[in-house]
Amino acid sequence: MDLLQHMTERARSLQRCVVLPEGNEPRTLRAANRILGEGLAKVILIGNADEINALAAADGLEAIAQAQIVDPADKAVIDRYAPVLLELRKSKGMTEEQAAKTAADPLYLGCLMVKTGDAYCMVAGAENTTGDVLRAAFQVIKTRPGIDVVSGAFIMIMPEGVDYGTDGIMIFADCAVVPNPDARQLAQIAVSSAETARKIAGIEPRVAMLSYSTKGSGKGDQVDKVVEATRLAHEMDPCVDLDGELQADAAIVPVVAAKKAPGSEVAGKANVLVFPSLEVGNIAYKLVQRIAGAQAVGPVLQGLAAPVNDLSRGASWEDIYKTIIMTCNQ
Ligand code: ACO
Repeated sequence: MDLLQHMTERARSLQRCVVLPEGNEPRTLRAANRILGEGLAKVILIGNADEINALAAADGLEAIAQAQIVDPADKAVIDRYAPVLLELRKSKGMTEEQAAKTAADPLYLGCLMVKTGDAYCMVAGAENTTGDVLRAAFQVIKTRPGIDVVSGAFIMIMPEGVDYGTDGIMIFADCAVVPNPDARQLAQIAVSSAETARKIAGIEPRVAMLSYSTKGSGKGDQVDKVVEATRLAHEMDPCVDLDGELQADAAIVPVVAAKKAPGSEVAGKANVLVFPSLEVGNIAYKLVQRIAGAQAVGPVLQGLAAPVNDLSRGASWEDIYKTIIMTCNQ
């Protein structure tokens, strides 16, 4: 059984409740219809019921009848969630009036439903920008204990015959969130990525902290940052197999590793690649996806206190369907 099939079966047995703030967005509705039709999760759609039902009827999406629809224009909804938001944000100067207005924003409302346990997880971003989805999640869901930086990983599934990682599965991070992580943030990204490898991809992590230098071969502030991040990550989680600084070839090619990093437990067989900046991570995952033909599942937002995932605005309805399944597994 491949990873996606495995996650699908797991979602079916978990029966989690996902809130979709972009409830009247056509690709999202189609994905929700399939999730409901296949019995993979419970679904809450945020939006106007008449509008959603009309769109579903026009597209023949019969399973949408099983979704719960929550309308942000409903006063009872805002009366329930605005006080929760006010409590979370009053120390930042939010007023009662601002809380009522912000709670009616579907992205905040979705996060508030997760925060209160009315939904288990949230998927959004088919229409909204990454920044808008992330900001709502940061402010409402916040980070989990011991982590103060949220990052975004991709599960990279290599095409048949390409056996890097573990059975062709690798984790790449951060590819989505933190533009210029410092050493401490990079260490947290590494520890969170190891957990994503274990808990979501089902592989035992071997984490490479990537750089343009292997074990002192190159010099510079960017190398020093990765060396320090490696030290801090070891401190944060001494049980994770993690090594750095490593160049990409030393991280994944055994013969290169034998020359450049002899004796390393990780070099040559890394399955989690931690990039030194968002710029590198984002470019790298897109190139591997396009040139090598790998499937890129994600970004999986890691470090949040509850599962929320952001979609690309170019996502197809099938991408949204897969992201919902993955989020229900988090
Ligand atoms: N982890 C946890 N909390 C964070 C993080 C983070 N990485 N970044 C910001 N926050 C918190 C702040 O502490 C702040 O909390 P507070 O309001 O309680 O004080 C809140 O979020 C808002 O902070 P801002 O500084 O206003 O947020 P900012 O405007 O910097 O936005 C954002 C953060 C949107 C994540 C920004 O860093 C960003 O744009 N990152 C790049 C996103 C992107 O474009 N990715 C590439 C495309 S995605 C793809 O291709 C898959």
